Amino acid sequence: MKLALGTAAFLLMAHPAAADSYEEHDYTLNCSGCHRTDGSGSRVVPSLQAMPELSAKAGAREYWVQVPGAAQAPLSNARLAALMNWLVERFVGKRPEPAYTAQEVGRLRRNPLRDPIARRTEIRRATPH
Ligand code: HEC
Repeated sequence: MKLALGTAAFLLMAHPAAADSYEEHDYTLNCSGCHRTDGSGSRVVPSLQAMPELSAKAGAREYWVQVPGAAQAPLSNARLAALMNWLVERFVGKRPEPAYTAQEVGRLRRNPLRDPIARRTEIRRATPH
């Protein structure tokens, strides 16, 4: 019993340092290898911290799911939808409205982008929707 209490106390203490949601775990496991924990990316991976510059543009919502890293992640449609809602809230500052659903994500990921960088440039030039 004493041991069990000790273990429980240890787990409670250990918790704050660990990822505390499925979304954060899914990001760590499937995205952070390229995008890094803070989203800053690298010379070859764009920073997710720049997502706000696209957020008001037509096509951004779809583009974010159709980039190969997201579309081809080994996650169910429901888990990817939850991850995308979490990602937009984290890097744009508010949850997408309406929230991504499994159905929408499933439809989008069937068409991953061949040339994401060209698509990003197109969206940046587009007028806000
Ligand atoms: C193998 C490396 C890699 C992995 C893993 C990866 N990405 Fe990416 N991501 C990229 C690159 C490179 C780009 C730039 C577009 C392109 O060339 O695919 C990008 C672009 C993006 C963008 C567009 C950002 C913008 O504003 O242009 C989003 C959103 C994104 N990734 C989300 C994710 C999510 C979510 C995951 C995990 C499920 C993920 N990525 C996994 C490499 C990766």
